[in-house]
Amino acid sequence: MAVGIHRPTVLTIDLEAIRYNVKTAKDHLQNGAELFMVVKANGYGHGLVQTAMAAKEAGATGFCVAILDEAIELRQSGFTDPILVLGITSPEYAHLMVEQKIAAAVGSLDWLQQAERNLEGIPGQLLVHLAVDTGMGRIGFRETDDLMGAVDFLSKSQSLTFEGIFTHFATADMKDNRYFQGQLSKWQAMTAELPELPKYVHISNSATTLWHHPLPGINMIRYGAAGYGLNPSGTELQPPFDLHPAMSLTSEIVFSKQIHAGDSVGYGATYTAKQDEFVGTLPIGYADGYQRRLGGFYVLVDGQKCDILGRVCMDQIMIRLPKFYQPGTKVTLVGRNGSKEISLQDLADHLETNHYEIACGFSDRITKKYVH
Ligand SMILES: Cc1ncc(COP(=O)(O)O)c(C=O)c1O
Repeated sequence: MAVGIHRPTVLTIDLEAIRYNVKTAKDHLQNGAELFMVVKANGYGHGLVQTAMAAKEAGATGFCVAILDEAIELRQSGFTDPILVLGITSPEYAHLMVEQKIAAAVGSLDWLQQAERNLEGIPGQLLVHLAVDTGMGRIGFRETDDLMGAVDFLSKSQSLTFEGIFTHFATADMKDNRYFQGQLSKWQAMTAELPELPKYVHISNSATTLWHHPLPGINMIRYGAAGYGLNPSGTELQPPFDLHPAMSLTSEIVFSKQIHAGDSVGYGATYTAKQDEFVGTLPIGYADGYQRRLGGFYVLVDGQKCDILGRVCMDQIMIRLPKFYQPGTKVTLVGRNGSKEISLQDLADHLETNHYEIACGFSDRITKKYVH
């Protein structure tokens, strides 16, 4: 994909914010638990390699990704730290994971058996983290007997090493903690029978870390959203310490004009001016992940809110300006401008989604600038 380095639309990623967020989380943990930064989906849209490096500088000792290719990209970029693929990888790639020392999340005995067969004659060990489904309903062992069967299989395996065990909470970011407690009890009951614990025991995402720690017996956390400065709870719960958002999105007015009462703007002519007004055009649109449904939202110019007029086009949007502003005037779409700020959460509220989706939804056509 062509990256727009010749247009003024820029995603700025503050690596110091990521370092700050990782350090504060580590301080909060107190018990010396390790922090694996979750850098899947291109570091939640912030950039895989750059955010992994910032997190590592701040004390992250490993990484979690969603798919094998993300892990391979980290290896190709020189990271030798532990990496866990959180999603299910086909056992047909077990040899690749052995070769690259990439750990697999596994939720069935069948997977282990297939991987063992595929690894016959191949030197090295496949690192396995057993997923326990305590209520997320996504992947993992749901019954204690099945989990114990897998543990037993691993203990006898020639080519698989039991490196970790984990679960994932569905509601750790909510005020009502009854479902969380149910999952925690199930986790405790299912793991109580383990003959011995593997190296990594991990059940905490950002929300669990922020609102449910300390948790006994946990020696690693999988830290995602909060590492990027995003409150995993949206607006429901407030974090016990500051989070510094790392992502901002800015552009410039590239065309500026006055329109008159009765003039329309954009596809479908859905907006018609009731009076004379100034309109600026910005070089960003839904092909950049600035979604069409953001028509009706606003941006910041010179510390003031400016409404988006009409429909968001594929590559451009039009905004109402309070007066004439020259082309080249800075516009903030996410971040601070004067005394005002637009957060990813504000966009998420408008779009009735979460800020995770917004952050990882900006397309690679937008150039990224990393600042320290
Ligand atoms: C299994 C697992 N662990 C950890 C995380 C990180 O979650 P968060 O970004 O809320 O910290 C995710 C993200 O979705 C996940 O799927």
